[in-house]
Amino acid sequence: MSAQALIEQIAQLSKEAQLKIVSVQNEADLAEFTQSYAGKKSALTQVMKQLGALTPDDRSLVGKSANEYKEALQHLLTAKESELLKNKFALLKETEFVDLSINPPHYAELTTDFSESGHIHPISATQQKLESIFTSMGFTIVDGPQIENDYHNFGALNFSDDHPARDMQDTFYTQTGHLLRTHTSTIQIRALSQMKPPLRIIAPGRVFRYEEIDASHEHTFYQMEGMVVDRRVSVGNLLHLMQTLLAEVFESEVDVRLRPGYFPFVEPGFELDMKCLVCSGAGCSVCKHSGWVEVLPCGLVHPNVLKSAGLDPNEWQGAAFGLGLNRLVMMQYGIEDIRHFMGGKMSFLRQFGN
Ligand code: DAH
Repeated sequence: MSAQALIEQIAQLSKEAQLKIVSVQNEADLAEFTQSYAGKKSALTQVMKQLGALTPDDRSLVGKSANEYKEALQHLLTAKESELLKNKFALLKETEFVDLSINPPHYAELTTDFSESGHIHPISATQQKLESIFTSMGFTIVDGPQIENDYHNFGALNFSDDHPARDMQDTFYTQTGHLLRTHTSTIQIRALSQMKPPLRIIAPGRVFRYEEIDASHEHTFYQMEGMVVDRRVSVGNLLHLMQTLLAEVFESEVDVRLRPGYFPFVEPGFELDMKCLVCSGAGCSVCKHSGWVEVLPCGLVHPNVLKSAGLDPNEWQGAAFGLGLNRLVMMQYGIEDIRHFMGGKMSFLRQFGN
């Protein structure tokens, strides 16, 4: 066949394709269309097979027109694909749209009552309350990863490699040598590496321990770390901060006392107790008849922690605390078992609805 005839054949094909594509309605049609106009058995392939018999000049002429055809075909295919996709989504919108703001009547058959509106989890509610107390005192809320490395969780917090205090916080290790953070104190280190003192931060978050689970131990719980670094920070400042915090949370004046407590990253370290609000210190089951309830560990930031952040402990001092959010919420509401928080029981959660 002559070059001219082949070129006409291609032009004919191109016209045909343009007409045919209009009738393509779905993906199956499109696949068939592609097969017959660009596939191995298409008319184009037949044309290309005849190129060998042409002179080099004719071959390049026919080749050029074949390329133009392929290009035009590609345009048609792309436009059709996007048209089909658009139609598909328009159809989905029609058939699968769910208006979450209304309660379809058939939901009434389910045991879960979808007509009930949701509410904030008590731990989140207390966390939000604390966040607003602290931000009003000039604190910044900071965050950090839950999957950590040994340096942030232990090393920079003055736990040496073989320090027995590591055993107080057994954790889960990943195969890559990372660990699930055992406390939010990791964020002290992250903040010190990113912010310049003077600084005031709080860091609420989820923490993990490899624990034997019982009424007061969970593998997953919540803490809020706090840290102040400034030129002169004393135990008096720390005590005042803690007292203000507890008075705001419990909405009444609270008596506190400090007992020595050991944590490698503070010196001195304390356990702060609060006079039992249930019995006003007379002794009851909540305070195990001692009149005091242990609420938050705290202390002055250890010089080694400051040094690991490149700060001179003679110039800078810090105070820090680690509030157990679950503990606090348990005291606020008289919850007797920490496992309720992760239990997922609606009957437990509903009690905190408005
Ligand atoms: N990170 C400690 C823990 O989870 C709690 C803690 C103790 C935090 C003393 C502090 C602190 O900031 O000063 O057991």
